[in-house]
Amino acid sequence: MEQSAKIYRDLDRILVTKEEIAKKVKELGQQITRDYEGKQPVLVCILKGAAIFFSDLIREIDLPLTADFMAISSYGSATKTSGVVRVLKDLDHDILGKDVIIVEDIVDTGVTLSYLRSMLLHRGAASIKVAALLDKTARRQVTDLLVDYVCFDIPDAFVVGYGLDYAQVYRNLPDIGVLSPGIYEK
Ligand code: IMP
Ligand code: MG
Repeated sequence: MEQSAKIYRDLDRILVTKEEIAKKVKELGQQITRDYEGKQPVLVCILKGAAIFFSDLIREIDLPLTADFMAISSYGSATKTSGVVRVLKDLDHDILGKDVIIVEDIVDTGVTLSYLRSMLLHRGAASIKVAALLDKTARRQVTDLLVDYVCFDIPDAFVVGYGLDYAQVYRNLPDIGVLSPGIYEK
């Protein structure tokens, strides 16, 4: 899809292009391949926002990894976090003794990830690391949260595309862009 496509009209500006995303995702895949040499990590996709990032990332990792999926809710359709994290779909497989990499779309306040990390640690994972496509460090509330791998640090703006949504829409944009505030202030 090109940037002249109709769905791009609700964006203020493009923040990260699909070419920049592809380059970073490839580099991250190579880094994880090196860091987990000799291991068989479980990559956990946090649905739905991370789905596109996840499918690109795992294809850049040269390891006998396994994939699992989890859905949680933290937002509803608003653009501010509720602070409440609920598991909507749990993992299919046990992670006891496994090296887990949580794959998230974006770390904002950090509430979601810090909850997830401690939950998976309690289930006896051997190790847990976090790979996030985007990081909005300016908005972090959970100060002791470690995000091990980040593709892009972004400013405090509401972004959509490449899996990220506003009210479930815009996930299919190939680039990442700032949504026009007029769209969610209506
Ligand atoms: P946190 O718990 O505040 O870190 O929220 C993380 C979750 O909020 C992400 O997984 C997203 O689903 C959502 N989120 C935060 N910022 C944005 C954004 O700019 N665009 C789309 N979703 C966002
Ligand atoms: Mg999410």
